[in-house]
Amino acid sequence: MQHDTPALAQPCRQLADLPGPRRLPLLGNAHQMHRGRLHQDMENWSREYGPLFSVALGRTQMLVVADHALIAQVLRERPATFRRPSVTAEVAEELGGVPGVFEAEGADWRNQRRMVMQAFAPHAVKAYFPSLVQVGQRLRKRWEGLAAAGKTIDLGADLRMFSVDIVAGLAFGSDVNTIETGDNAIQRNLDKILPAVGERSMAPFPYWRYVKLPRDRQLERSMAAVRVAVGELVAQAKERMRLDPQLAARPRNMLEAMLAAAAQEGSGVTEVEVAGNVLTMLLAGEDTTSNCMAWLIWLLHRHPQVLARAREEVLRVAPDSAALSIEQLDGLDFIEACANEALRLKPPAAFLPFEALVDTVVGDVQVPKGTLLWCVMRGSSVDDAWVANAARFDPQRWLDGAIDKKVSMPFGAGPRTCPGRYLALLEIKLGMAMLLGGFEIASVSTTHGGEPAEKLGFVMEPETLQMRLHARSKDLKS
Ligand code: HEM
Repeated sequence: MQHDTPALAQPCRQLADLPGPRRLPLLGNAHQMHRGRLHQDMENWSREYGPLFSVALGRTQMLVVADHALIAQVLRERPATFRRPSVTAEVAEELGGVPGVFEAEGADWRNQRRMVMQAFAPHAVKAYFPSLVQVGQRLRKRWEGLAAAGKTIDLGADLRMFSVDIVAGLAFGSDVNTIETGDNAIQRNLDKILPAVGERSMAPFPYWRYVKLPRDRQLERSMAAVRVAVGELVAQAKERMRLDPQLAARPRNMLEAMLAAAAQEGSGVTEVEVAGNVLTMLLAGEDTTSNCMAWLIWLLHRHPQVLARAREEVLRVAPDSAALSIEQLDGLDFIEACANEALRLKPPAAFLPFEALVDTVVGDVQVPKGTLLWCVMRGSSVDDAWVANAARFDPQRWLDGAIDKKVSMPFGAGPRTCPGRYLALLEIKLGMAMLLGGFEIASVSTTHGGEPAEKLGFVMEPETLQMRLHARSKDLKS
């Protein structure tokens, strides 16, 4: 059903006036929400109830916003009017986490954002680029071995190692090399922490404040181990910078760049916050990028003509994955269009939650201070009213101006838009150049042979995908 974007008129409706699914006393709509696919529940309801409706989690009423223009308004009105939900920051703080730029608010966020942006400056990414190529070559070697042995590749797991090695190398300045060693202690512990923070943020009752189950004690141990490991990395970087003061002007990785920025007069950032941001980069930069690549590879495999055109571009623009330059990757326009199209159809951040900091208005709805908002990030972007043949995987639409780019916001928007966007696209293009230039994709499939289900954890990911590759022979490479 089509719904018009509500006019930004005089406020007239209250939350209680909004349509929405029928609620039960005490439970609200909790019984109709499905763990692991809550994003789809909200998307389905938005098709029924329109771009502004309300749901209740227990007794808490939440405003759901599904129209891109209204979402963009909310995203822009930060940090003054909306924040990320305070409950997530509380849960993380309770575990002893230090807020990085993703969780910070107000003046702390402004100071941290300034520091983080220095670490993402083009010259900083350029300095780091050779390490990116090295990680790509390790994955190529691994896949050549698996292809030669006729083995199946667990696509999600391998792409995750790729993104972990890239982000960890960038964030810490140390070569963690999970692709070749298969392990990394910080990662192992983070994998336990992240789902727990998510679960606790949504829990109807904070039982762990009264009783600690074995998994809660394990969580505390993981948190402590991560704190110690990151503390050591910060201490090592400080020592390197003490021995070589030039590093402050020419940092080789994000940790050095952040330490240099934090040391500047009036930065407002402490070393503890630098450590918080090392972890933030790991959390924000890994699963997002690896799942985007997994969805992209699945979609390309399903669309052989698009795949052929993508390969043609790689062979023409960036044929040698061992000797790639940033300029070559910047020239992969069609691959970038493929990534944008995959992000439109399968956005890893399928929803964004917020909290109103003051009494305000969204569309024609009065929103009291403290109200929670759920922004449906895959609404207008897959609606035929906004995108022609919206369900079709058609990367060309990004090149010939056939899409209003503001309709799809996979990296968010406004002052808190994702600072890792350029790096993520660089990483995706590097991975695709390596895959398409070096291999033929024999198959990408789920274990049941059907469409991969969407699983919402920290990000929206496909269920397990298995890939089989054949190495392309040298004479096919040109
Ligand atoms: C395809 C990959 C990625 C996607 C889809 C993605 C998506 C997002 C989204 C939707 C947000 C929230 C934006 C907002 O609130 O307006 C965000 C924030 C953020 N992302 Fe990304 N991201 C990706 C990769 C990365 C990478 C590689 C890094 C760093 C290495 C990164 C670091 C961050 C940080 C630090 C924030 C918080 C910014 C702030 O609150 O000021 N992201 N990202």
